[in-house]
Amino acid sequence: MLQGKKFILGISGGIAAYKCAQLTRLLVKEGAEVQVIMTKLAKQFITPLTMATLSKRPILVEFFDPENGAWNSHVDSGLWADAMIVAPATANTMGKMANGVADNLLITTYLSARCPVFVAPTMDLDMYQHPSTQRNMSTLRSYGNHLIEPNAGELASGLVGKGRMAEPEEIVAELKDFFAKKEKQDLSGKKVLVTAGPTHEKIDPVRFIGNYSSGKMGYALAEELADRGAKVTLVSGPTQISTLNPNIERINVVSAEEMYEASSSRFEQMDAAIMCAAVADYTPVHKADEKMKRNDNELSVELKATTDIAAALGEKKSDKQVLVGFALETQDAMSNAQKKLIKKNLDFIVLNSLKDKGAGFNSYTNKITIIDKHNKIKEFSLKSKADVASDIVDELVGCL
Ligand code: C5P
Repeated sequence: MLQGKKFILGISGGIAAYKCAQLTRLLVKEGAEVQVIMTKLAKQFITPLTMATLSKRPILVEFFDPENGAWNSHVDSGLWADAMIVAPATANTMGKMANGVADNLLITTYLSARCPVFVAPTMDLDMYQHPSTQRNMSTLRSYGNHLIEPNAGELASGLVGKGRMAEPEEIVAELKDFFAKKEKQDLSGKKVLVTAGPTHEKIDPVRFIGNYSSGKMGYALAEELADRGAKVTLVSGPTQISTLNPNIERINVVSAEEMYEASSSRFEQMDAAIMCAAVADYTPVHKADEKMKRNDNELSVELKATTDIAAALGEKKSDKQVLVGFALETQDAMSNAQKKLIKKNLDFIVLNSLKDKGAGFNSYTNKITIIDKHNKIKEFSLKSKADVASDIVDELVGCL
């Protein structure tokens, strides 16, 4: 799977740098080419001689060779690679990657790279938990970078917790999985509509009714579909997530009404639609033009039902089109999901329960059950939203 693939391995200065020797050996054994770029500090943890010998190429550290002025082009390296792996990624390096602090060759290469980027963080448990590290990792995820979660265990400091860099075998497995999916292209030529995120229903110019949806699940689905060859139309409510995937056309909307218009006008051209958005079920009847003033009495906001987008598409659906919905339930999960499946004329519904730890809004993981129109039920374990997206797309491919 990795035969002939070209990798940039960006090593930053953490004790786990020693694992890069093994990682490079495994990649070379798979038939891949590896160009190592090290930060200055990384050279203190593992020698350039070791890395150059194992990768069979001189390693790069500086922007240019001080002896002869030869330029180490970060742009060329960034364009050459099929993927960049930053391992170990220290808190410092991730901070620079997240904020574009381009003061070494590893970061300038990262900023120029057009290929997928895999990031394997490592650090002490308190550094890992610090809000700045967590925020930087979120930012990197929002750029579409693939974070390879560190393992929990004994750390170099002697403390025990999360922060051990993933093992070289795990990183190689993640890369193989990524390229296997990419090369599968089982949705080539298909057009898929995805709705994602929350909607905001205006009350007045400064207030709205919204919900906690982050859009992560919908964006993970759009990325997965696009990676497997589909042309994706992503109708997105307000989110903090960005996507650079050339197979994704993103249409930004705010309200349920706008989401309905954008989705229903495009549905006819689609082979499938996945309704992942947390659409408001009600919207204010009157939307005030001026900010509503406080008074000391109670305030009632009159609401009316929004259009159920999934149900509207379900009515229009042809025999060849596949429609997928989501159900986020807090009680009677299974029977409510089954009712929605029928009412909205879905081919299958993805159930997630807010009672499952790590599932639902704003987490990076999800735990789902898929129920299809023949009432076949498949339960899945807790997984990253990217892996959950892969399971859902597998089910969709089976229906198409
Ligand atoms: O009925 P409920 O809102 O729980 O149904 C959830 C499913 O219906 C999701 O797939 C959601 O995207 C979709 N939905 C919709 N339009 C609405 C409400 C929900 O498409 N107005």
